[in-house]
Amino acid sequence: MSHEEIIKVSKAAAANTLTDATKASAIRAQAKDDPDGFWTDVAKRLDWSKPFTRVKDVSFDAKDLHIKWFDDGELNACVNCLDRHLPERANDIAIIWESDDPATAKHITYAEAFEETCRMANVLKARGVKRGDRVVIYMPMIPEAAYAMLACARIGAVHSVVFGGFSPEALASRIEDCGAVAVITADEGMRGGKAVPLKANVDKALGLKQHKTDVRLVLTVERTNATIPMTAGRDLYYYGEARNDVAPECPAEAMNAEDTLFILYTSGSTGKPKGVLHTTGGYLTYVSYTHEKVFDYRLGEIFWCTADVGWVTGHSYIVYGPLANGATTLIFEGVPTYPDASRFWQVIEKHQVNIFYTAPTALRALMREGDDMVKKADRSSLRLLGSVGEPINPEAWLWYYNVVGDGKHPIVDTWWQTETGGILISPLPGATDLKPGSATQPLPGVFPAIVDANGNFLDGACEGNLVITDSWPGQMRTVYGDHQRFIDTYFKTYPGMYFTGDGARRDADGYYWITGRVDDVINVSGHRMGTAEVEAAIDEHDAVVEAAVVGFPHDVKGQGIYAYVTLLAGVEPTEAMEKEIIDVVRREIGPIAKPDHIHFTPALPKTRSGKIMRRILRKIAENEFGALGDTSTLADPSVVDALIEGRKNR
Ligand code: WTA
Repeated sequence: MSHEEIIKVSKAAAANTLTDATKASAIRAQAKDDPDGFWTDVAKRLDWSKPFTRVKDVSFDAKDLHIKWFDDGELNACVNCLDRHLPERANDIAIIWESDDPATAKHITYAEAFEETCRMANVLKARGVKRGDRVVIYMPMIPEAAYAMLACARIGAVHSVVFGGFSPEALASRIEDCGAVAVITADEGMRGGKAVPLKANVDKALGLKQHKTDVRLVLTVERTNATIPMTAGRDLYYYGEARNDVAPECPAEAMNAEDTLFILYTSGSTGKPKGVLHTTGGYLTYVSYTHEKVFDYRLGEIFWCTADVGWVTGHSYIVYGPLANGATTLIFEGVPTYPDASRFWQVIEKHQVNIFYTAPTALRALMREGDDMVKKADRSSLRLLGSVGEPINPEAWLWYYNVVGDGKHPIVDTWWQTETGGILISPLPGATDLKPGSATQPLPGVFPAIVDANGNFLDGACEGNLVITDSWPGQMRTVYGDHQRFIDTYFKTYPGMYFTGDGARRDADGYYWITGRVDDVINVSGHRMGTAEVEAAIDEHDAVVEAAVVGFPHDVKGQGIYAYVTLLAGVEPTEAMEKEIIDVVRREIGPIAKPDHIHFTPALPKTRSGKIMRRILRKIAENEFGALGDTSTLADPSVVDALIEGRKNR
């Protein structure tokens, strides 16, 4: 990294032009009028080993769909996150790790993060992992999770992080789908004082007969030092058997901007989770840019994003964005309620956190614990608050603002998706007036629109479906192994536009209010879940004939999971059966997909052609019996009456 680049980042951070309303609107105009010039300037924040000459090559036409950014440039994401900060700030803190146990924390400098990442990269290389190979990372929230991601990036391997709360079954299907050659895991994770058997889950996943996997290496980081079985020839202890035998430096691969950086599985409305694929140059440019501008990040500040690295928020705003910017990023292993519901605020006090980024579901849960839990911690280091993952209700927003922030700090409500790589709609602190519950306005270079069901653009104040009409560098490039699914999912509903799957309202001031998913995806505690996936899991139970799953409003989780289940004739719908079905879902997906309600019914409402009428099921789950809409196409209307009775009785 050249000396100049670092200074450029730090200067820009100190004088973030996007914190000024007039300048921000000038920059929006520039991004619109001269997109190539705008994005060229933005991409200069990174270190390119070979500069790009082409900026953008994109078509959203389904017949010729392609998305390329900076595609003759070369760079390495790990070099941009670590090496280039060394000349100036090797001894600055890259990562603060706060353990599940409040008595333990670590401070890791950029020099240390560099060495640890290089060592892990060398271990992978020594065991035959090559450029282009896929590596699954199934880890707790420990610094080694970040090293593992960056080590893959360094040697050009493609990582796919799988959330540690997923079951062996869900893990196996992801390992199989991406054809991983290696898995990096830990002996156990620690969450809320309880051990999570990660390595045992990997063993189970690799032993499942119904999944064909080709994993040659299971690299196990010692987190708790629990005794675990090791398979000779395949399994390797990281600290005990590998780390010290390799060099502390590792050359970085020069990657093309459009080489794959990672695959991250996310739920859609149909079928199994899809492998959202992000590439190197555009993604890193975009997350670095948005991390600095949206959070007004200034060098030296402590940035804490409470997400898990298993989700896109963790990828973009715990690891890649902050580290590309030379920030200090906090990695928290635990949960908000352990040892008590004051933990978040205690961590803020302990590590003097300046910028705090969390999810509405956590805020709603903590709000219930009373203001004292917040107020007993000193939060005077805070300067900016952020929200992500689901719509934030005005009540939670105001509590966040008034109680957590003492009415002093802007809240950035950031709307984006796994597919978008980084934040697309958000206030710019200082430049955008805030409205509680609104993600406000698109960032410069982002062009959303609202369309009706037929794809007609709606003007002014309106409500409809949210689309994005042009590309931005952080956009996903394909669904791994299934490009047609990428085209069909995102570019066919409204030809020529990227369809987000979200509904939105725009008010008279041009502010966007995200109203939630308009497809069969539900958002439970900020986790995306496909109703089809949960149904497929329930169907695995031998006594189940059919299941239909819908979301319903839930005070803390945002949405809960409501499952209608039809059992084989003669099988009793008992509490024991309910428990068995919940266990199947835990086994197939994980505890996050556990239904809140199981409603046994002899039949589901269907049209005469046999299609389940989900709209009606949603209304019944929402307790809105008067608003069932047109029921004239029902094959057997009495089914609905019985369901309503059943709902009233719970
Ligand atoms: C929802 C998480 C309202 C939305 C980054 C989107 C939001 C889905 C917000 C993506 C927000 C995310 N306001 N809704 N600020 N942020 N969403 O892929 O429905 O896990 O489509 O990415 O979360 O979830 P994902």
